[in-house]
Amino acid sequence: MLPGRGLMGLQMKGGSRDTPLPDYGIDAPDAVRRFLTMGTLAIVVGFAAPSLVAMLPPQYAQTLLGTARSLGWMGYAFVATACVMLWGSRVGKLRLRDKVLATLPWRGDEQVLDVGCGHGLMLIGAAQRLTSGRAVGIDIWRAQDQARNSPQATLRNARLESVAGRIEVRSADARRLPFDAASFDVVLSSWTLHNIAERDGRRRAIEEIMRVLRPGGRVVLIDIRHGAEYAALLRELGCAQVRVGAPSFLFVTPTRVVSAQKPA
Ligand SMILES: C[S@@+](CC[C@H](N)C(=O)[O-])C[C@H]1O[C@@H](n2cnc3c(N)ncnc32)[C@H](O)[C@@H]1O
Repeated sequence: MLPGRGLMGLQMKGGSRDTPLPDYGIDAPDAVRRFLTMGTLAIVVGFAAPSLVAMLPPQYAQTLLGTARSLGWMGYAFVATACVMLWGSRVGKLRLRDKVLATLPWRGDEQVLDVGCGHGLMLIGAAQRLTSGRAVGIDIWRAQDQARNSPQATLRNARLESVAGRIEVRSADARRLPFDAASFDVVLSSWTLHNIAERDGRRRAIEEIMRVLRPGGRVVLIDIRHGAEYAALLRELGCAQVRVGAPSFLFVTPTRVVSAQKPA
């Protein structure tokens, strides 16, 4: 865990939990809740099984005991999965964000776009590297993709990170970006594009990203699925230096970083 950060987004200050830290949200909250609930139930059944089975006729007892024990082990696996997902949202994502942003050659005057910014993870990380530049985040604020998702939550984080003056948030869909062509030096998107279920929709989003990117600009897409598809599309749209990073396992399913540069 990052120094001073708790899972609930509070900072320990002089022993008291009174200074709020930015909260970058919990991804896929319904899935986390399901894994925790099902896991806990399965563990309880696994534990309670010997006493329950003692009440049954012996011919059923042995089979049922075996099944209940397997269920108990499955429960531990579910709870562990939920914990990895929570760790990914609270800690792992921040580490990967910092690592990825550190690879870009920042001048400080860039115009940056974060597509599907959610609570502002990439948006704010980029804004921290800007001096005269500006970072814009767009999102459709779906609560099923990130818990308590809203522009207000993002702006609050920006204030807490002291970058509110360098960012802007807008409601927009990745497939129809409300910006002129060649408006941005850097376009970032993290854990967002896989939420567009149809391949055509993801293609439109990447075409839009390429449209709003300036010649010579850089694009970085971080996602748990479709890395090869994004890379192929970027190449097809004329990008140079398309790279697909090695997988990292923040959310159990592998996350890949796809980066590229638009020809100057
Ligand atoms: C898992 S969250 C990731 C948020 C943020 N990028 C991060 O890394 O913490 C996915 C985000 O994508 C947004 N999203 C999903 N489909 C979108 C679309 N078609 N256009 C714009 N945003 C979208 C969701 O509202 C959500 O905020």
